[in-house]
Amino acid sequence: MLSKMNIGSLSLRNNIFLAPMAGITDLPFRVLTRTFGSSLCFTEMVSANGLVRRTHKSYEYLKSSPDDSPLGVQIFGSDPDILREAAGIVTELGADLIDINAGCPVKKVLKTGAGAALMRDPAKFEAIVKSVRGATHLPLTVKIRSGWGNDELNAIEIAGIAEDCGADALSLHPRTVRQGFSGIADWNLIGLAKKSIGIPVIGSGDIRKSEDVLEMIEKTGCDGVMVGRGALGNPWIFKAITAFISNGTTPDPPSPIEREAVILQHLEMNISLYGKEMGVKNFRKHLLWYTKGLKGGSKFRKAAILVNEMNELLEMVHEYLQPLSNGTSGAEKL
Ligand SMILES: Cc1cc2nc3c(=O)[nH]c(=O)nc-3n(C[C@H](O)[C@H](O)[C@H](O)COP(=O)(O)O)c2cc1C
Repeated sequence: MLSKMNIGSLSLRNNIFLAPMAGITDLPFRVLTRTFGSSLCFTEMVSANGLVRRTHKSYEYLKSSPDDSPLGVQIFGSDPDILREAAGIVTELGADLIDINAGCPVKKVLKTGAGAALMRDPAKFEAIVKSVRGATHLPLTVKIRSGWGNDELNAIEIAGIAEDCGADALSLHPRTVRQGFSGIADWNLIGLAKKSIGIPVIGSGDIRKSEDVLEMIEKTGCDGVMVGRGALGNPWIFKAITAFISNGTTPDPPSPIEREAVILQHLEMNISLYGKEMGVKNFRKHLLWYTKGLKGGSKFRKAAILVNEMNELLEMVHEYLQPLSNGTSGAEKL
């Protein structure tokens, strides 16, 4: 089940990927998940308009490093010409793969005709995929949802268009736009997509543990699997998944000492990318995820949220996690 996978000309060492997540899948988080086994990572969705207009923020999302490879850059927009130009820019900047976002359900994005709004306009969707295909030699993927609502489930039609226009793989998160992120993902649709198109299909949605990956592959026949929310505060999930589906083993969960080491590594990468102030500030959400479900976690989180200084935060993490190694909680001292 753990197998090498090709997307166009790109050879990947396995078929387990980090899903694109806005505000989360930046350079530090991508590098971290790669060390645990994710074979392909994506940037968060980057505005094609922003790239073409040279908006600073859009280029920030493209920041990468040699250990952040292979990298898929996800672009969104609604104008085929702008997307063509953006694809050219991303290609020149050295991406390994381009992904078109046709699944974002956020109102602000839908209002502009981008994201999942493209699924409601198959002619526009077709023009966009053709246009991007013509602008790059890179492997091209498209990420879609089930459709707009239960009365508008057109993922299979859209998947066919993507294939006909030259996409090299399709990612499917089988929830509708109306569903947002609630309810459960309908994996049956992933199976239907796999049966109806010839390019590889990557399944996304509700992967929280290794067994889910096996179940998704067995039920749907999909070629690859993306992990999104299951990786939050849990980059180890890639180690667990790759071990489980290659030889049925389950590695021990990270010890408090290992957890602390990864938190330190993650925070250091954050600070080197964003600087001291922003690096700590935007790490807080990760720290909340890293300590979710741990003994005394909520007390720790209440205290940690107030800290702005890196060394103070690290000391607090150490004092909290070390006693957990012998079953007590350092949160008592906070
Ligand atoms: C906070 C957040 C941000 C997301 N941002 C993106 C995005 O930028 N582009 C995209 O294609 N999907 C995005 N997604 C959707 C995920 O890639 C994934 O398809 C979805 O969360 C379902 O998988 P999961 O249950 O493993 O999280 C986002 C999801 C979350 C939770």
